[in-house]
Formats: sequence, structure tokens, C-alpha cells
Amino acid sequence: MTTNQQILLDNRPQGEAEESNFKLVQSPLPTVGEGQVLVRHHYLSLDPYMRGRMNDAKSYAQPQPLGEVMQGGTVGEVVESRHPKFKTGDSVVGMGGWQEYSLVNPSEPGALRRVDTTYVPLSYYLGAVGMPGVTAWYGLVKIIQPKAGETMVVSAATGAVGSAFAALAKARGCRVVGIAGGAEKCSYAVNELGFDACIDYRENPDIKSMAKALKEACPNGIDGYFENVGGYIFDAVLLRTNAFARIALCGMIAGYDGQPLPLANPALLLVNRIKLEGFIVSEHMEVWGEALTELGGLVAAGQLKPRETIAQGLAAAPAAFLGLLKGKNFGKQLVKLI
Ligand SMILES: NC(=O)c1ccc[n+]([C@@H]2O[C@H](COP(=O)([O-])OP(=O)(O)OC[C@H]3O[C@@H](n4cnc5c(N)ncnc54)[C@H](OP(=O)(O)O)[C@@H]3O)[C@@H](O)[C@H]2O)c1
Repeated sequence: MTTNQQILLDNRPQGEAEESNFKLVQSPLPTVGEGQVLVRHHYLSLDPYMRGRMNDAKSYAQPQPLGEVMQGGTVGEVVESRHPKFKTGDSVVGMGGWQEYSLVNPSEPGALRRVDTTYVPLSYYLGAVGMPGVTAWYGLVKIIQPKAGETMVVSAATGAVGSAFAALAKARGCRVVGIAGGAEKCSYAVNELGFDACIDYRENPDIKSMAKALKEACPNGIDGYFENVGGYIFDAVLLRTNAFARIALCGMIAGYDGQPLPLANPALLLVNRIKLEGFIVSEHMEVWGEALTELGGLVAAGQLKPRETIAQGLAAAPAAFLGLLKGKNFGKQLVKLI
């Protein structure tokens, strides 16, 4: 193998992202220098945050540069090593990006981590036992701080983050209610993921009907909310919050193409003395060890059964990514490269 297929960000979206924003190219396979390793990617992770980085806008992270390989999480195997701590055949997780191979300097903090695939499949290190799982853990454990018997609600409930949130909250003795798009996702949430109830937002397309559905699913009100979507779903949840509820503001995917997401009744934050905290999981590396240990244990015990949607081949990545932004994925969205 002498070439490396890559997908670059070619131009920035105007409104909705499109396949024409990306460009597939062939590059020569890089030569491994002293202290470096060459990783062959088995799976590429597609994540909603990538949409924000496609814009040249001020945010918590630098924009994805134009003409460069799309950044992103990868799992794979070391195929050549000139680093003393890695050997050929090691299974690794890193940030290799949208390409078949990446050249990594493992001495850089967070660049590459060896993983054990004895009990946890390699791909799970991009989902339930990876960044999305830790995201759910941080929002639940550090921000919401649930107590047994409390009611937790999560939007984008069947996705990579939402499904891990359910398992973690159930393990703490909470009632867990999901909000997801479509009857199939909702029945999967209840029957496979352990949610106590799941509300189909497509059947409840406005604040009033969503608030009514939440009242039925959460008879004791809402104590903790893990927000992934924004918009009227957020407004409806606020109407059902209990005094001293906690909200982990993780994502607002309904606005990632630039749609404004005004809050209908922000006074409820005051009236209900709500704690609301936004967070970025990569800024809390101190919890990753503890979180990954718990998440790996839940997977091994069968208490967290994540689902994956797998696109085949690098060229399929742009369409799969656009699908993720429209809810076409069912669970963690991956691209399988070999
Ligand atoms: N703060 C952090 O550090 C951090 C880290 C990771 C992820 N996140 C955020 O966490 C959220 C979930 O990420 P994930 O990786 O687990 O993705 P995911 O849930 O696996 O996939 C995204 C899901 O969002 C839902 N969605 C898309 N557009 C929507 C819309 N307009 N209205 C309502 N729902 C919509 C779809 O589910 P339905 O079909 O059910 O609507 C879709 O399947 C995202 O907001 C992401 O940005 C934040």
C-alpha cells in the first residue's frame, strides 16, 4: 500500500452542510520518522461537533482549516512503529481524521492510546467507551449529580451520548425518560436501552404537546435534564422542571446549521432556581479514567448495549455525516474503512 485516501474540507457551508463541502484525494503514504507510528484506521467516528468546526466562527475550538484532512476520532492498528511504547499490531484510539492512515507522534499528550479489545469491541472506543460515553458521564455525574429516585430526561436519547446517559442514570437508581425522533427509535430506547419511557418529538412538534407528553412520562416532574438538541424541546422541558433541577447543556444540534434557538421562557430558570451548566468534555480530562472504567464495566455486564450505524468506505463519510445531522443514524455513527 503506497497511497492514503483522505477527505479534506474544501469549502465552508452556507447554511446546511453539503457533500460538495468535502473533497476526496489520494496522497502518498507518509514515511515513519524516529518517535512516530503509522496507524491504519479501522473505524472513523462521525460526530455532531464537526459541523460547528466547518464554520469559520468563534467557538471553544479552532475552525477546521480549509484544504486539510477533516479532523476526527479514529480507532485502528499500528502498522509500523519507531516509538518504544508501541508495536506493530497494537489496537489504538486517536484523532487520525478522515483518512485511511495517520502518522502519529504518541509522545504528544492525548495523541494515541492503546486499548484492550478482549471484552470491548474496537469500535466502542469511539462511542460508549469513548468520547461520547465520557460526555454522558460528565454531564450526569458532575453537573446533574443525580439522586436515586429522581427523574432524568435526555434528548437525542438513542444516540451515542444519549444511550450511555440512560445506562449511567439507571445504574444510579433514577427514572430515565428519553426524547427521540420516530416510533422505532422510541421503542428501541425502552426495549433495548432501559429507558422507562421515550417521547417521539415528531409526534409532539410544538411546546404544548411536548410539555403534555413530558407531564405523562414524568409524573414527579424533572430533576435533571441532559440537553443535546435545543429549541422547543428545551422550552417544554423547562416547563416541567422541579425546583432546584440541574441542566447539563451538552449540545444544541437543532441549531448547528445556524438556526436561531430562542428560549421562550427563560424566567423559569429563576422561578425554579435551576442550575444550568454548559461543558466541553475534552476540557475535563481528569474524569476520563474513572468514566471509561465505569462505561467499560457497563458494556461488559450487558447493561449498556450500544447500537452502531456503519457506513462502508471513506468515500461514504460525507453522506453519513450529513445523515447524522438529520437523525438518519441509529446509535453511534461510524465509517468502516477495512
Ligand atoms: N459538549 C460536549 O463536549 C459534547 C461531546 C459530544 C457530543 N456533544 C453533543 O451531544 C449531542 C449528541 O451527540 P451524539 O454524538 O450522541 O450524536 P447522536 O445522538 O448519535 O446523533 C445525533 C442525533 O441528534 C438528533 N438530531 C439531529 N438533528 C436534530 C434536530 N434538528 N432536532 C432534534 N434532534 C436532532 C438525531 O436523533 P433523533 O432522530 O432522535 O432526533 C440524531 O440521531 C450533540 O448535540 C453533540 O453536539 C457534546
